[in-house]
Amino acid sequence: MSAISVNGLTKKFNGNVAVKEVNFEVKPGTIFGFLGPNGAGKTTTINILCTLMGADAGSASVNGYDCSKEPDDVRRSIGIVFQDPTLDKDLTAYENLLYHAYLYRVPKPVRRRTVEDAIRFIGLYERKDDLIKTYSGGMKRRLEVARALVHQPKVLFLDEPTLGLDPQSRAGLWTYIRRLPETMDMTIFMTTHYMEEAEVCDDICIIDHGSIIAKGAPSELKSMLGGDVVYLIADDNKKALGMIRDLLDIEAEIKGDEIVFPTKKSDTCIPEIIRTLGDSVRSIRLQRPTLNDVFLKITGREIRSEHADSGDQLRENIRAYRRRSDRQ
Ligand SMILES: Nc1ncnc2c1ncn2[C@@H]1O[C@H](COP(=O)(O)OP(=O)(O)OP(=O)(O)O)[C@@H](O)[C@H]1O
Ligand SMILES: [Mg+2]
Repeated sequence: MSAISVNGLTKKFNGNVAVKEVNFEVKPGTIFGFLGPNGAGKTTTINILCTLMGADAGSASVNGYDCSKEPDDVRRSIGIVFQDPTLDKDLTAYENLLYHAYLYRVPKPVRRRTVEDAIRFIGLYERKDDLIKTYSGGMKRRLEVARALVHQPKVLFLDEPTLGLDPQSRAGLWTYIRRLPETMDMTIFMTTHYMEEAEVCDDICIIDHGSIIAKGAPSELKSMLGGDVVYLIADDNKKALGMIRDLLDIEAEIKGDEIVFPTKKSDTCIPEIIRTLGDSVRSIRLQRPTLNDVFLKITGREIRSEHADSGDQLRENIRAYRRRSDRQ
């Protein structure tokens, strides 16, 4: 049985389609990444799966429970970290989680221990009695994950868990998230628009303008791009080019001061080239395709372009505001 099953899911807001005939399955015990730019329909899909919102068409089930017909069973079996923070700033970390445990009816005899275990798992035990307002952004996000673990859900939804965190905090949070499927026998459904983060997922779906545009394991999606690209500089590039073409029977060419060629077998072809060209190789580098390249290939634009656009729009609005102020 799939941990999550979605069939023809569709949601409109005021006639505008936010999610359009979306289909996917999530296998139990895996990390599933739901990727897409701003406004793609990620949070709307999560809201439907978590029963916070109904769909206009299609069906969805979580842990075998139908999201529209058995919402209470769905809710009992899931944990969620919302895109927007929801901790109470004036309570301590421990109090925030204890309150959650109480709401989820974690039995009284194990409540305190369960809360402590969750805080310890996420690495914040030393700070458990500090008020949330004294926490950094990364610590708050980690604590939100800990809170979602308190009632030991079978499926954990993480909506942009690392948004706005610095690279170090993002890496730290990921260390904890990656351990969850194995240590807690959990399925993770996460959204992100940091494509590089999705590399840790077992499977991903890329959503754009409400529709799924690609799905598969990260390696499968990247293999659509024709493999890695090798860049090589030799003492005599022309001579080396001829040797590489003979050796590998591939379309290599000289671009600038480098020999460039695509390969699906970089693991074997690079040692072969070095054996053949020997000391005449001055440098060799390999560029592996990223999920960002996959998005670019399918849509013709960068996944972050919407952010760039909104930044440009914001700057333009500020300039217009200043022009108006200058005139007054
Ligand atoms: N409650 C709502 N009322 C009207 N429109 C909505 C509502 N919620 C979402 N939308 C619209 O639905 C579309 C999808 O929004 P959604 O929040 O699902 O995107 P997202 O992929 O989560 O984006 P982000 O990366 O910015 O969080 C957007 O066009 C958004 O404006
Ligand atoms: Mg969202």
